[in-house]
Amino acid sequence: MEEKKEKQKQCMVLFSKQQKHFQRNCFALLLCMFLAILPLNQSHSFNYTQALSKSLLYFESQRSGRLPHNQRVTWRYHSALTDGLEQGVDLVGGYYDAGDNVKFGLPMAFTITMLSWGVIEYGGDMVRRRRVGDGDTDHYCWQRPEDMTTSRRAYKVDEKNPGSDVAGETAAAMAAASIVFRKLNPHYSNLLLRHAKQLFEFGDKYRGKYDNSIEIVKGYYPSVSGFMDELLWAALWLYKATDMEVYLKYVLENGHGFGGITWAITEFSWDVKYAGVQIIASMLREEKYKEHKHVLEQYRSKAEYYLCACLNKNNETNVRRTPGGLLFIRQWNNMQYVSTASFLLTIYSDYLQSTNQTLKCDRGSVNSQEIFVFAKSQVDYILGANPMSISYLVGYGLNFPQRVHHRGASIESYKGNKGFIGCTQGYDNWFKRLAPNPNVVVGALVGGPDENDQFRDQRSDFAQTEACTYNTATLAGVLARLHRLISHDSHISPLIASS
Ligand SMILES: *[C@@H]1O[C@H](CO)[C@@H](O)[C@H](O)[C@H]1NC(C)=O
Ligand SMILES: *[C@@H]1O[C@H](CO)[C@@H](O)[C@H](O)[C@H]1NC(C)=O
Ligand SMILES: *[C@@H]1O[C@H](CO)[C@@H](O)[C@H](O)[C@H]1NC(C)=O
Repeated sequence: MEEKKEKQKQCMVLFSKQQKHFQRNCFALLLCMFLAILPLNQSHSFNYTQALSKSLLYFESQRSGRLPHNQRVTWRYHSALTDGLEQGVDLVGGYYDAGDNVKFGLPMAFTITMLSWGVIEYGGDMVRRRRVGDGDTDHYCWQRPEDMTTSRRAYKVDEKNPGSDVAGETAAAMAAASIVFRKLNPHYSNLLLRHAKQLFEFGDKYRGKYDNSIEIVKGYYPSVSGFMDELLWAALWLYKATDMEVYLKYVLENGHGFGGITWAITEFSWDVKYAGVQIIASMLREEKYKEHKHVLEQYRSKAEYYLCACLNKNNETNVRRTPGGLLFIRQWNNMQYVSTASFLLTIYSDYLQSTNQTLKCDRGSVNSQEIFVFAKSQVDYILGANPMSISYLVGYGLNFPQRVHHRGASIESYKGNKGFIGCTQGYDNWFKRLAPNPNVVVGALVGGPDENDQFRDQRSDFAQTEACTYNTATLAGVLARLHRLISHDSHISPLIASS
């Protein structure tokens, strides 16, 4: 008993050490792999290739710790170089998840899972999470990350303070990333997989929601759907990564108890992962799954409910749309739901095409091409085909948000002015200004317009002007797919075809 506990502890310590390694190496490599599929010519009104490369640049704006020599976002500088010092672990590095200077664990892990999934599908053919920074004191300040004086408290989860959601999502991220690195770096891939298995085991054994253990995240990233979706999600990614029956069994046996086959849901996000679970499960349709047909069919029916809702083809519940045609879930960071929907629709469209099937909804069948066209329409809206004629992808096109809710971007670069800008000084002199941000966060996908396609380019309107890493990570996958579409159209063989 004691020995087992000790083992778990060791695993957790090991894991925290792996975090920065994981975020840094894995993330950087994933980005390179997306970039490796550039550049190609095209004849469309939107240059998806350019949008893709800009979206990848965004992650450089979000870097924490010591910046590498090849850093292309030059208005940023080293920051948070003592993270973890107080706790006796090196937590320097990683990424800030949005417009604040906190490294939230759950959304960041989701970012990596989605980025990995995009790479797995379209990119060629990234703890025991320690969340660094204190949501309350950081949000009270408006400062550049380079000047931070706020609490850099790190929070952890353990047996007594469980966090099955954050452990599950991180296990999923590592399992997905292990697939990406399998050929490229087998040693790293194995390491990721080993930690993914340990984390899943930890999350499954000590069950609980991380926001009950780390109360402070409640105001920022509360886990509303609980941890059961993350455990199913982790098991599925582990199954994809290992082919081991035990993980599939977990998904099948807990389908009912954990809501996998009972929850019909119309949104997919860093918190609510049921739709992603259901879609991956419903694509397991080979002969070898015959004996599990019954449960898999139930997963599939919930996956189809989600997809049909996005396509406005359910009789009863559908996702609302703005008059301009944008999927609209809610006012706060609506673009996260748009990018995840576009992503899942794209994946499923490709799956239907490769298996010669159509999607059957209450209001009739939809073929793969129609689904893809709809996903593309959402991306086109993001890039400028919308009533405001604005690109919600910052730095893309001529008209894009100028007052992104982003501490670093809204204050003059540390490189130009190394004078300390304090907590409230940032508010008074920079946050409240009406002028555009001095720095452009290229590639950031902001929260987007309201339900009437109206967008207020105001720094204080974080519901509309804040961007998050998971928005962009998910969009990048769809952009990679659109880029491939164009390259095939023009008969230029892309590097991605080699896998
Ligand atoms: C699209 O963008 C890429 C990368 O910025 C560029 O090389 C290419 O020329 C652009 N294509 C068109 C048709 O403008
Ligand atoms: C695809 O389905 C259609 C209609 O069911 C059928 O006519 C066609 O032969 C199928 N193609 C393949 C490659 O299975
Ligand atoms: C959906 O509504 C149509 C028209 O009212 C009806 O014909 C159809 O049977 C309904 N489908 C389902 C699955 O309820």
